[in-house]
Amino acid sequence: MADKYEQVLELAKRRGFIWNSFELYGGTAGFYDYGPLGAMLKRRVENIWRDIFVINEGYYEIESPTIGIEDVFIASGHVGGFSDPLTECQKCNEAFRADHLVTDVVDNPDTLSADELTEVIGKNDIKCPECGGKLGKVYEFNLMFKTSIGPGGKRAGYLRPETAQGMFVDFPRLLKFYRDHLPFGATQIGKAYRNEISPRQGVIRLREFTQAEAEIFIDPRDKTHPKFKEIADIALNLFSQEGQAAGEMQKISLGDAVKNGIIAHEFLAYCLALTYQFLVRVGVSPDKLRFRQHMKDEMAHYAADCWDAEILSERFGWVEVVGIADRTDYDLKAHAKQSEKELNVYVSYDTPKKLEKFVVKPDMGVLGPMFKGKAGKIANALKALKPEELSGDVIEVTVDGEKININKDSVKFETVTEEIHGENIIPHVIEPSFGIDRITYSLLEHSYFEEEAKEEEEEGEEGGKEEMRIVLRLPPEVAPVQAAVLPLLTREELIKPANEIVKKLRIKGILVAFDDSGTVGRRYRRNDEIGTPYSITVDYQTLEDSTVTIRDRDTMKQVRAGISDIAGIIYDLIYGGSSFGDAGKKV
Ligand code: ATP
Ligand code: GLY
Repeated sequence: MADKYEQVLELAKRRGFIWNSFELYGGTAGFYDYGPLGAMLKRRVENIWRDIFVINEGYYEIESPTIGIEDVFIASGHVGGFSDPLTECQKCNEAFRADHLVTDVVDNPDTLSADELTEVIGKNDIKCPECGGKLGKVYEFNLMFKTSIGPGGKRAGYLRPETAQGMFVDFPRLLKFYRDHLPFGATQIGKAYRNEISPRQGVIRLREFTQAEAEIFIDPRDKTHPKFKEIADIALNLFSQEGQAAGEMQKISLGDAVKNGIIAHEFLAYCLALTYQFLVRVGVSPDKLRFRQHMKDEMAHYAADCWDAEILSERFGWVEVVGIADRTDYDLKAHAKQSEKELNVYVSYDTPKKLEKFVVKPDMGVLGPMFKGKAGKIANALKALKPEELSGDVIEVTVDGEKININKDSVKFETVTEEIHGENIIPHVIEPSFGIDRITYSLLEHSYFEEEAKEEEEEGEEGGKEEMRIVLRLPPEVAPVQAAVLPLLTREELIKPANEIVKKLRIKGILVAFDDSGTVGRRYRRNDEIGTPYSITVDYQTLEDSTVTIRDRDTMKQVRAGISDIAGIIYDLIYGGSSFGDAGKKV
């Protein structure tokens, strides 16, 4: 029997959601196309993400190039260290992720070096999974796609492996945009590229995929969140480092998780809450969702702490779909060093700080005539001395390699109190990083149901029969087609009002399908399997009292409502949270 992945992919290909890229030429691993329904579904998922992060949190979206210059990825650490361990079969030349081949014989294989993996493979006599051949020495394979910019291949470029670097490189401009105030955030939804070694997990591991990332720049001295109270009661399945060591996941409120030190700070916990709200809103089952903290030796090179949102998939088990990392000041410091520019923010103190300062005041009236042209350099050398170096009767300074003794009477020193109003700091960055493709596949899997259902008949049609109903229980705001309009028969007198309804719905921005072929029961089934939440049927009663039936995809129940209100009713059902029972009179 086909597993859920095969069932979902079969439907996805047949009905125009997702299929292999370049099928015409036999396809290639790691690339998938979104068809007409898939592209719309994905766009809706992205727009809900925008609603949460851009509109509600105020983290404006930017768009930076998908090709980056080498400096960017030297600074970010990707040129030096963005690699996976690779081993090739000496017989059939297939390439494999070495850490994936040893999961049965060692814990946490992703923490092992290439040499250690070579040793584990040798000792355990692990062979090529394809042909049984001998596996070669493991080496680190950089996952970035390299290209060159301009003719002649003089300037190296890379296809970006994450959208994040765009926000870091734009930091000075973003800081100005946000009027030099922390915290602020910027977001980006766009393509990222990774030359994955052996993408055998279908739509889960792609070589070109879409990320939605927020980089939130915060004051490192204050990792609280002003809206933390609003989400403190949300309880999540947390699989912390300690929990993993003990093999125990816990469901706990975010308030308690921060209080008990399970999640390091409010800002990180707030981002977990936003992630949860987003994933559930787009259709991920909350009971198949957990947040797993990275183990210390598993953390990315830039992260001090990281929690992955993982979704349970029938074939692949727990799959990471979002990484929420505290990237500290790693990236800004690295780009400041590489670009030789200062990347910091001046922050004012609420009340000025008083600072005791030791000040050295050389007496130029004495030093000038005594040392002439050297007097300035000597004064500067004296000013740089520490209090303990000024204690003797004779003070020694070194100027241009020459040791010079100065009489104590030529130097005055005192302690003054200065008021300090602020300081330059390097912000820390909290980053929720979403993989939109993995999320889109997961919500398809979680909303896919096959059930026995009696084919529905309408008045004037033949009796229904038992058949299998495939239904995608997508949330209405995510469903690609949001309403279907079905004239009971292909007669002009029914088609005309049906077309008018289509027009009204389109004016409201609702994507509607007009379908007049086959029995209404079959048309309902066609729409059920692409997740259309509401079907509107125009029948002969419509001509008498200007009402239509609205059928709910999930319950298959029907209500009767007036044509004049139909666009508003459907809009409120999709976006306004109104209940189907209130949409009209029960049929
Ligand atoms: P994995 O361990 O599965 O390779 P990762 O830890 O490399 O993932 P991140 O670098 O944290 O992933 O990337 C952030 C998000 O981007 C992931 O949570 C995932 O949803 C998505 N992502 C990463 N690599 C891929 C890929 N090859 N195909 C599809 N989505 C991906
Ligand atoms: N920006 C996080 C990642 O892609 O790894």
